[in-house]
Amino acid sequence: AITLDPAARGAAIDDTMYGVFFEDINRAADGGLYAELVQNRSFEYSTADNSSYTPLTAWTADGTAEVVNDGGRLNERNRNYLSLGAGSSVTNAGYNTGVRVEKGKRYDFSVWARAESGTTLTVTLKDAAGTLANVRQVAAKGGWRKYTATFTATRTSNRGRLAVATTAPVALDMVSLFPRETYKNQPNGLRKDLAEKIEALNPGFLRFPGGCLVNTGSMEDYSEASGWQRKRAYQWKDTIGPVEERATNANFWGYNQSYGLGYYEYFRFAEDIGAMPLPVVPALVTGCGQNKAVDDEALLKRHIQDTLDLIEFANGPATSKWGKVRAEMGHSKPFGLTHIGVGNEENLPREFFARFQQFRAAIEAKYPDITVISNSGPDDSGTTFDTAWQLGREGKVDMVDEHYYNSPQWFLQNNDRYDSYDRKGPKVFLGEYASQGNAWKNALSEAAYMTGLERNADVVKLASYAPLLANEDYVQWRPDLIWFNNRASWNSANYEVQKLFMNNTGDRVVPSKATGTPDVSGPITGAVGLSTWATSAAYDDVRVTSADGTALLTDDFSGDASKWTHSGAGSWTVQDGQYVQTDAAAENTMVTAGDPAWKDYDLHVKATKKSGK
Ligand code: AHR
Repeated sequence: AITLDPAARGAAIDDTMYGVFFEDINRAADGGLYAELVQNRSFEYSTADNSSYTPLTAWTADGTAEVVNDGGRLNERNRNYLSLGAGSSVTNAGYNTGVRVEKGKRYDFSVWARAESGTTLTVTLKDAAGTLANVRQVAAKGGWRKYTATFTATRTSNRGRLAVATTAPVALDMVSLFPRETYKNQPNGLRKDLAEKIEALNPGFLRFPGGCLVNTGSMEDYSEASGWQRKRAYQWKDTIGPVEERATNANFWGYNQSYGLGYYEYFRFAEDIGAMPLPVVPALVTGCGQNKAVDDEALLKRHIQDTLDLIEFANGPATSKWGKVRAEMGHSKPFGLTHIGVGNEENLPREFFARFQQFRAAIEAKYPDITVISNSGPDDSGTTFDTAWQLGREGKVDMVDEHYYNSPQWFLQNNDRYDSYDRKGPKVFLGEYASQGNAWKNALSEAAYMTGLERNADVVKLASYAPLLANEDYVQWRPDLIWFNNRASWNSANYEVQKLFMNNTGDRVVPSKATGTPDVSGPITGAVGLSTWATSAAYDDVRVTSADGTALLTDDFSGDASKWTHSGAGSWTVQDGQYVQTDAAAENTMVTAGDPAWKDYDLHVKATKKSGK
């Protein structure tokens, strides 16, 4: 039974309480929300990003086609270009099954070319059954110039290919095909169905661009002095300005990122969906397993200055240095930035906090109204990262970003987590959380948990599920909120829960008491599918099992530990036909069976709750 006291006044709930966290993981940006249909459009894919990549990944050549990195390049930040011989052609395969085009819709092609006079480029959209639009011819001559053409698709296809052929030797770069129709028809815009699904959530804020993406890799910038570093931390200045001058980078999640979806587009998207923008900048301590504090005063100063410049880019008048850059990109009005996150999941709390304080001091000195958010390190559902919280409390931080991924049972058992948080301490930004699965029971456990967040709305100020997007053919992390491929997108049950809460955010908590609530103690069972999650911080004897919880699977892979992979801390071995975690101190681990053919099996986690946890 639930007893309410309508006259009593509980905590006020902010309109911004529930938001979304966008990270370029699972190809969420290129091949996802960013509407570009050509993969590897600037021939910058590199083995430094992924050992299976070459500069011609996603392209096939007929004739002479060579990727060149020399002084003849388009510009210094776009190192490679394609040299295509007379009578030769290249064809791009797009993402997933190919370039998706829809009958009657328009597609804008563009390319940068350096050509001998009299060169004709023939541009074709086709699939195995023939052309998908009228063939376009582009006359090119002279130094680097941008050429454009428009197609209207005569058939619908999910397996399209974009081919460019030349009559004479030519240099090509930035080969692009964009649907004319993007979200709110913005130029260099976003894929409509995905952006609309995010908009339909009615998010109060948009946290971006990561996650591990932000705070890992070298903190150097992209310049000759740094040896044109790949695998550098995500730095906002790399991601603005003309797209052909945005140096691509290795993505933390193992692929290449074009930065076509960059800081300007993130701010614009936040504005378009009515969400408060909440960027996260690198703190010069790498997180996400890398655990390195960068000791370089000059570099730290540069990053702090970059953060001040970011605030000016977002909020400065069009006459200021960085406000002018924003205005030149098409937005003279400020974006209204009020919150900024510094760092993500640092495993070295003291090193992080020393740097955080320098960021905060500089920001508060120049922009006293900006809320600077700290974080509590990796997974916060156990007790390992208490130091980061303690430092935040002692340092009187405004808000701490917490992250956790756990079993549905954990979410049911911990509904009261924030009831005992210090009301005078820092506020909570629950920047990432998810119950480990996209099944109904996961969504339900999250809904139950969110009632606990809301009851504590005086302490928990912001909360976002993570991750937001997953392209089904390029998955690094599951579960995810919205799934898609090149032709369709679909919501998870978890999405429906988020949508329900975001579209019905109350003004104020009405205090209530519940009696006769179900017993949620006992063994946990985890997510279903090719991957599942295990956690041994609060559980003993963590095993991946079959659905009935006894043996694993009777097939050939049951006895071979090499056929399993796990991410995060922990040691695993195969015992009695079960995959068993032997490192009791480890916290969350994602366990994945190594063969997609096993996708019909249900993987479960069986464990016993440790006493006192
Ligand atoms: O949401 C996926 C990842 O989980 C994020 O990049 C990271 O912050 C967390 O570990």
